[in-house]
Amino acid sequence: MAEFPKLRLRRLRKSNLRKIFRETRLSTDNLIVPIFVDENIKEKKPIESMPGYYRIPLEGVEKEVDECLELGLESFILFGVPSYKDEVGTSAFDREGVIQKAVRRVKAEFPDAVVVTDVCLCEYTTHGHCGIVRDGEILNDETLPILGKIAVSHAEAGADVVAPSGMMDGMVAAIRRALDESGFSSIPIMSYAAKYASSFYSPFREAAESGYKFGDRKGYQMDIHNSDEAMREIELDIKEGADIIMIKPALPYLDIIRRARERFGYPLAAYNVSGEYSMVKAAIEKGWLSEDVIYEILVSIKRAGANLIITYHAKEVAEKLQ
Ligand code: PBG
Repeated sequence: MAEFPKLRLRRLRKSNLRKIFRETRLSTDNLIVPIFVDENIKEKKPIESMPGYYRIPLEGVEKEVDECLELGLESFILFGVPSYKDEVGTSAFDREGVIQKAVRRVKAEFPDAVVVTDVCLCEYTTHGHCGIVRDGEILNDETLPILGKIAVSHAEAGADVVAPSGMMDGMVAAIRRALDESGFSSIPIMSYAAKYASSFYSPFREAAESGYKFGDRKGYQMDIHNSDEAMREIELDIKEGADIIMIKPALPYLDIIRRARERFGYPLAAYNVSGEYSMVKAAIEKGWLSEDVIYEILVSIKRAGANLIITYHAKEVAEKLQ
C-alpha cells in the first residue's frame, strides 16, 4: 500500500467526487414517523417538551399521514392516548379503542402505508406501568396473554407490523403464538429487544400520558451500563420469533447498534427517542446548534448499523432529502 506523499486521502474528498464514495445514505424509505393519536381532543395539540410535535385527534390522522406521504415517508408507528384507563389496560385491546380506530382510518384511505403499532399497556393503565400490577409488583407471566390480545386486536384492525415495547420476558413468543392462532401468521413482530431504562423517554411520557404513578421501569427495562445483556436480550427475541429487533434509545447506544449489526446481521431498527429529539430542538431554538445536526445524527445511527430509524425528526429531514 502506498503511503504519503504518494497517497493523499484528500484527493477523493474534492467537489462531487466525495458523493461517489459515500458509504451511508439516508433515505425516507428507512424512516418511521411516530404519531400520537389522542381520542380526547378535536384539534391537534402541541407537546410542550417536544417543540414542533403534536398530538393528533382521531379525525386528523388521515391528514397527518397524507402530509408525510407527500414527503415520501410511508411508514408510521402509532401511539394512543385513550379516553379510558383502568388497572389492567382494557382499552388497549378494545375493538373500538383509539389505536384500532386510527389504524382502520389510515388503512382505509392509504392501504399502502406501512402501519406499525406499539403493543404495550402503559398508556392504557391507571398506574402507567407496562404490565399488570399486584401488590406494587409488575407481573410478567400474567401480562403476556394481554399483550397477545392487544397484538391480535391491532392486526384485526389492519396493522402491518406489531411492536411490543414492554420488555416482559417471553413477550415475543406469546405474541407470535397469539397472532398465529388467530390467522395472522404473516404479520411481522418488531421487538423492542434492547430497551434501556433511560432518562431520555420523559418527553414521550408527556406526549402519550404514559408516566407511571409509582416506582420506575428498572424492574423490566435494561440497565444502562450493560452491553452483553443486550446481546442476550436480542438473541432471545430472535429465538422467540422476532422479525425485526430494535435498540432504544439510539444516539447514546450506537455501540449496541454496531455490536448487534455485526453479531446478528438481522433486520435492525433504532429508536431515536423523544429526549434525543427535544435536546436537539432546544439547542437549535437557542441558536447554539444548526439544524444540520439532525441529519448528522440520523446518518450516524444508520452508519452504526440500523436499517431503519424511528424518529420525530422524520418530516423535517424528509424535506431536506427531497
Ligand atoms: C411504551 C413506550 C415508551 C416509549 C416508546 N414506547 C415509553 C417508556 O418506556 O416509558 C418511549 C419513546 C420515546 O421516548 O420517544 N412502553
